[in-house]
Amino acid sequence: MRIRDLSADDAPVIEHLAAILVAAFADHWPEAWPDLEAARTEVRASLSADRISRVALDEDGTVLGWIGGIAAYDGHVWELHPLVVHPAWQGRDIGRALVTDFEAQVRARGGLTIWLGTDDEDGMTSLAGHDLFPNVLDHLTRIRNLRRHPYEFYQKLGYVIVGALPDANGFGKPDIFMAKTVARQAPPGRAPTDAGS
Ligand SMILES: CC(C)(COP(=O)(O)OP(=O)(O)OC[C@H]1O[C@@H](n2cnc3c(N)ncnc32)[C@H](O)[C@@H]1OP(=O)(O)O)[C@@H](O)C(=O)NCCC(=O)NCCS
Repeated sequence: MRIRDLSADDAPVIEHLAAILVAAFADHWPEAWPDLEAARTEVRASLSADRISRVALDEDGTVLGWIGGIAAYDGHVWELHPLVVHPAWQGRDIGRALVTDFEAQVRARGGLTIWLGTDDEDGMTSLAGHDLFPNVLDHLTRIRNLRRHPYEFYQKLGYVIVGALPDANGFGKPDIFMAKTVARQAPPGRAPTDAGS
């Protein structure tokens, strides 16, 4: 597998990525990219010079996954958006490789912090279906993963929950905010997966 910049010349790759986005988000986030045209627009938007857009391909050129990034706060912070691995290739460390590559890209641009939002729209975590106000942080410290919500994937890569937007997608459907520093190493003796625990 190799990970490289996505370019405007990659028309067939862009088309594959659009199809992967629709397929991979259909089960739990059907409104994210409901059709190919919405997904194509997202992929094309990532090609602007001020973004990061990296695609994972195998030796045959098969499109395995994609990660994008958007700068904020004068480039100190980068939003990781979106991340997707082809459903047939999930669970083979491709997501981990894409995030690791992304972190190197952000570091090379002088970024300090990566953040992301990951929605719970259909009861994948213990946050869903509840009124999180007024003690939002209490709910976050007691979060449980009920149906393989990806927040745990990010935790394994050293990201910590830094907040949530209650009812972002309708009542009881929050957006969970996570972040990681790429400016500092984890404290000695602590594995990245221990971060924040
Ligand atoms: C989430 C996603 C990017 C993960 O990519 P992946 O290639 O399948 O994940 P990896 O194989 O790199 O997994 C790395 C680790 O995270 C774990 N993991 C992966 N997905 C997970 C999930 N949904 N819940 C809990 N743990 C998960 C793996 O078990 C592995 O753990 P290990 O190191 O203990 O073995 C991929 O499943 C995907 O594209 N899902 C659909 C779209 C999506 O959820 N995007 C992110 C939305 S913000």
